[in-house]
Amino acid sequence: MELDDFLGPRIIIVSGKGGVGKTTVSAALAIVAARRGRKVCITEVDRKGTLAKLFDSEPLTYEPSEMSPNVWGIHIEPGDALAEYLDVQYHMKRISWVFTTTHFLDIITTTAPGFKDILVLGKVWYLEQGRTRSAVKHSFDNVIVDAPAAGHMLSFLESPKGLTDALRVGPIRRQAEWLVDMVTDPHRTKVHLVTLPEEMPVIETLETSEALRRRLGIRSGAIFVNAVYSELLSKQERSLLAEIRSAGRTAELAKVAARVGLDLEEEDVDALVGYERFLEARRSIQARHLRALRRGTEEPVVTLPFLFSAGLALPDIETLADALEKEIEAL
Ligand SMILES: Nc1ncnc2c1ncn2[C@@H]1O[C@H](COP(=O)(O)OP(=O)(O)OP(=O)(O)O)[C@@H](O)[C@H]1O
Ligand SMILES: [Mg+2]
Repeated sequence: MELDDFLGPRIIIVSGKGGVGKTTVSAALAIVAARRGRKVCITEVDRKGTLAKLFDSEPLTYEPSEMSPNVWGIHIEPGDALAEYLDVQYHMKRISWVFTTTHFLDIITTTAPGFKDILVLGKVWYLEQGRTRSAVKHSFDNVIVDAPAAGHMLSFLESPKGLTDALRVGPIRRQAEWLVDMVTDPHRTKVHLVTLPEEMPVIETLETSEALRRRLGIRSGAIFVNAVYSELLSKQERSLLAEIRSAGRTAELAKVAARVGLDLEEEDVDALVGYERFLEARRSIQARHLRALRRGTEEPVVTLPFLFSAGLALPDIETLADALEKEIEAL
């Protein structure tokens, strides 16, 4: 698939179970888009702040800030979104702080669950439409939503529908309809799911994809399978290693290593060989879960390598973006 087609819908929602790599994938997708000259805004909707850390930039605020060339970030706080909404709709800038205190929002949220989600989606709509009240006007080619974890994501996307069901007429109903249209139009919004090549995440991803179709009438976009172990040795190298092991000749490997400047004890070699076997075992388990995923879905499956870094940083995201480009182009 052409990368530009993949990035076609302006709003890209990235969701999945907690900790599977939503923020990482959002960042890598943003880099892919930015490399193609697109101006991107990643929106963070929870309070963890891992996105800014990944780009080594200041914590995100409601005002878009540029984290790396063409990659912008914003933190959407429902209170800020409500203040902006009241300002745009009713020019209530000066008194809106009364309504936007956490206390006030909590009261409304108790009576109208999903209200905060609607406010966040409303801000995504402003970003899509280029209608922000920011000091600087922005027009983003892509708005990547680093979305809430899968369970909440469904109710997040369903929230405007709840409002259109509750209100029969009026401007708020009309605005809620705009949000329903935005979320359900595949030319405007794509929901990608991130998972790991493990049993429960795969099962839950298939369920989420099905729930998206059933409850919202939308097809999920790609399914990103993150942290897939890459092959350490080729098949030929592996069988050579097996031969050496079974002949009890690992000491010879230490000598070979010494020739290329690696100072290894025999037990280091044993540990490395053991690790290689462990990795192969893991790879075959991952492959099994990947097969189950592919059997269970018609959506394109995109794999991303596990990176052996202590805490990912921008160079790792660039590496993942390289992998993404290749995988998407091969779809
Ligand atoms: N491909 C990868 N290789 C190695 N480590 C990874 C990879 N992808 C993500 N990680 C690491 O896994 C952890 C979770 O990733 P990330 O924060 O992107 O997940 P998340 O789904 O956004 O989590 P949360 O649900 O908490 O927001 C992070 O420490 C990240 O650095
Ligand atoms: Mg995250």
